[in-house]
Parts: sequence; structure tokens; C-alpha cells
Amino acid sequence: MPPVDWEDAWRKRVTPWDEGRSPPALRRLLAEGRVPSGRVFVPGCGAGYDLATLADSERVVIGLDVSIDARAAFVESHKDLPGPATYEVGDFFTYDPTGAFDFVWDYTFFCALDPGQREAWARIMSRLVKPNGLLATLLFPYADPIPPNASGPPWPVNTDLVRGLVKDEFELLEVTEAEHTHPGREGKERLALWRRKGRD
Ligand SMILES: C[S@@+](CC[C@H](N)C(=O)[O-])C[C@H]1O[C@@H](n2cnc3c(N)ncnc32)[C@H](O)[C@@H]1O
Repeated sequence: MPPVDWEDAWRKRVTPWDEGRSPPALRRLLAEGRVPSGRVFVPGCGAGYDLATLADSERVVIGLDVSIDARAAFVESHKDLPGPATYEVGDFFTYDPTGAFDFVWDYTFFCALDPGQREAWARIMSRLVKPNGLLATLLFPYADPIPPNASGPPWPVNTDLVRGLVKDEFELLEVTEAEHTHPGREGKERLALWRRKGRD
């Protein structure tokens, strides 16, 4: 696969992944009170639906995307937010925030990356998530096993694939199949929650 030119895709608004709203699994996690308060980060946040969903007066919510046009799409479609949210434009692989996060939400960011970038993704996640903080990966498109000739993006993903990358720094708390999701994604999403190991 040639590398994806995300900025070009956003400039031309060729964004077939964009579902126009947050996935039900995120809204459910919030409704169940399972999203920690404090500092929250959404990498590869695109038009920022998840950023807006997470915005809340108890949280400092930061989204990041490499495309300035993605940020423009966020600003256009989110005039009134329930709480403060900051949308930064930059590259995840060189991102250097002022502090680590209590909660990081990855939906369709990991699967969008070139497989050669996955180890760096895991290294950076262990720097971005505070000890005892939570990394939530809503894994899509879920495939077990991953077909040998898989192509992407989106690249098929599963829990073992992510576990292999993060196991030294994170413990898996649970994996659940998303009961409700966007039309066409049914049965292809699993929510995996990873706790960053503490430093005793
Ligand atoms: C498949 S889209 C998903 C967007 C959003 N999470 C959603 O569910 O609609 C992947 C997003 O990651 C962004 N992206 C890709 N590589 C990036 C990088 N290295 N740093 C920051 N954002 C990146 C793209 O611009 C794009 O908006």
C-alpha cells in the first residue's frame, strides 16, 4: 500500500471513514461512568466527534490530528460543546504534550496507521498514558485471525495484535464486542481496555 496522504484526503474531503458521530461504544462507556476524569487525549481525531462527546467540565480534553482541514471540519460542526476541548494539529509520532493523560481513546487511528508504525504507536502510548491510566482501543475492523494477505487502511486488527505491542507496559482489563455500532460495522468492533502498569 502507498502511504496515505491524510492531509490531501481532508483537503478534498474524501473521508469515507467519517460516520458523522461518535461510536455508540464510547457513549456507553461514558454513560456507565467508566471514563476517568482528568486529562483525556484523542489521537487521529478527524472531525472530532469523539472529542466533542468526551468534552465535559470534569475533563481536560485534547484531540490531535495531522490535518488542519480536519480541524476546520471539527470547528464547523461543533459550535456548542458541553465542556472545553482543545484540537491540536500535529503528528502523533512527534507529539510532546505538557503532561501525560488519565484516559486515551483510540478509534480508527491504530487501524489507519501503516503496520510499520505500530511499534512506535505502542511506545508513544506508554509515554502518553499515566501509570494506572486507561488506554481504550475500540478495535475496528476486528478480525481473528487476521487474514494473511490483509491490506489497509483500515488494517484488520485484533486484541492479540495490540497485546503483543503493549504487554510490557499495559495490562488488559477486558475486551467486549460492541453491541451497537455504525451501520456496516456490526460484529467488527471490540472494545479493549488497557491499564497502564503502575510504578511502585
Ligand atoms: C481513519 S481516520 C479516523 C478519524 C476519526 N478517529 C474517526 O473515527 O472519524 C484516521 C485519522 O488519523 C489522522 N492521522 C493519520 N496519521 C496521523 C498522525 N501521524 N498524527 C495525527 N493524526 C494522524 C488522519 O488525518 C485521520 O483524520
